[in-house]
Amino acid sequence: MKILVTGGLGFIGSHTCVELLNANYEVVIIDNLSNSSIDVLDKIEEITSKKPKFYEIDVCDKEKVSVVFKENKIDAVIHFAGYKAVGESVSEPLKYYRNNLDSTLTLLEVMKEENCHNFVFSSSATVYGSPKELPIKEDFPLSTTNPYGTTKLMIERILADVSKADKDLSIIVLRYFNPIGAHKSGLIGEKPNGIPNNLMPYIVRVANKELPILSVFGNDYDTPDGTGVRDYIHVVDLAKGHIKALEKCVNFKGIEYYNLGTGTGYSVLDLVNTFEKVNNVEVPYKIVDRRPGDIAACYADPTKAYKELGFKAEYGIEDMCRDSYNFILKNKESHNN
Ligand SMILES: NC(=O)c1ccc[n+]([C@@H]2O[C@H](COP(=O)([O-])OP(=O)(O)OC[C@H]3O[C@@H](n4cnc5c(N)ncnc54)[C@H](O)[C@@H]3O)[C@@H](O)[C@H]2O)c1
Repeated sequence: MKILVTGGLGFIGSHTCVELLNANYEVVIIDNLSNSSIDVLDKIEEITSKKPKFYEIDVCDKEKVSVVFKENKIDAVIHFAGYKAVGESVSEPLKYYRNNLDSTLTLLEVMKEENCHNFVFSSSATVYGSPKELPIKEDFPLSTTNPYGTTKLMIERILADVSKADKDLSIIVLRYFNPIGAHKSGLIGEKPNGIPNNLMPYIVRVANKELPILSVFGNDYDTPDGTGVRDYIHVVDLAKGHIKALEKCVNFKGIEYYNLGTGTGYSVLDLVNTFEKVNNVEVPYKIVDRRPGDIAACYADPTKAYKELGFKAEYGIEDMCRDSYNFILKNKESHNN
C-alpha cells in the first residue's frame, strides 16, 4: 500500500514514516519544511535503509497536491501537516485557521477527485477542553480553549460532515495525548524552534544547560504533588498507533475517533525526577504562578483503541526520559563534528 504522509519530516510524522517503512508500506512525503529540516529525510533512510519519495510543497497548494496524486497511486493519507503552537495560535489565529483548515480541505478535495478513500487525521486531546471527569473517554463533550484547539475541533466537525456525505470514505481521527521521547537511534526527535512551549523540550534544554532553570507553573493543583498531571506517550508508540489506524481504515467505512495515550498520568515533578534519575543530570526548577488556561490533570482512557485497534503503548516514562535526552546529546555531537 502507498501512503501519503503530510508533515512527514516533523516530529510525529518522521517517526511514523519509520514505522510505515519498517512495516513495508510505500511512503510518499509532502512537507514544506516550515517546522522541519530536509536532513530528516536522510535520517529516515539511515534508520530504515529505505528512502521515501519526497515533495517539498505546501499542502494548501491544490495544483501541486494533485500532481502528487497523479504521479503516485495513493491508497491512504495520514495528515500531520499543520501548525501546533498554542501560544502562537492566540497571537496569530488567522495563520492557524488558514494553514490547518486549508491543508485539510485541499487534501479532502484532491482525494475525492482522485478516488482515494482512506484518511487518518492528527487531532489532539485539546478538543476535550477542561474535562469534568478522568480518565477521558472518546464520547466526552468537546470544547476548546485556544485557536489551535479550535482548528482541530473544526476539522473534526468537517470530517464528520464529509463522512456523512460520502459513504465510501474511511476516516480515523486520532486524539493524541502528550507525545515525548525520540527514536532510540537518536537520529530523529523533537526540535522546537526558539524557546520550547512544552515541558519535555524545556527539561532537555535545562539539563543540557542551554536554558538556566525550568519554571513549574503552579504546585497547588488538586493532584498528588500539586503540579499538573499529563498522559505522556512515547512518540514511537504513537507512531505505531498510526499503523493500527491504517489497518482499521481499510476495513471499515465511516468515521471513528480514538484516544492515543497510555492511560497513566504523571505530574511535572514525576517527569523531572525521573529524567534526573535515568539520565544522571540535574534539572533545576522553580515554582511559579499557574499559567492561564492550564488544567490540573488530563489523561486518556485508552480502552477503545486497545479493543478496536489492538493498540497499547509499550514504553514507560523512563524510556521516554532517556530517549528524549539521548536525541539532544546525539545532536550536540553531530553539531560539534
Ligand atoms: N506534538 C504534539 O504534542 C501534538 C499533540 C497533539 C496533536 N499534534 C498534531 O500532530 C501533528 C504533527 O505534530 P508534530 O508534533 O509532528 O508537529 P511538527 O511541527 O513537528 O510537524 C508538522 C510538519 O508539518 C509541516 N507543515 C506544516 N504546515 C504545512 C503545510 N501547509 N504544507 C506542508 N507541510 C506543512 C512542517 O514543516 C512540519 O514538518 C500536527 O497536526 C499537530 O497539531 C501534535
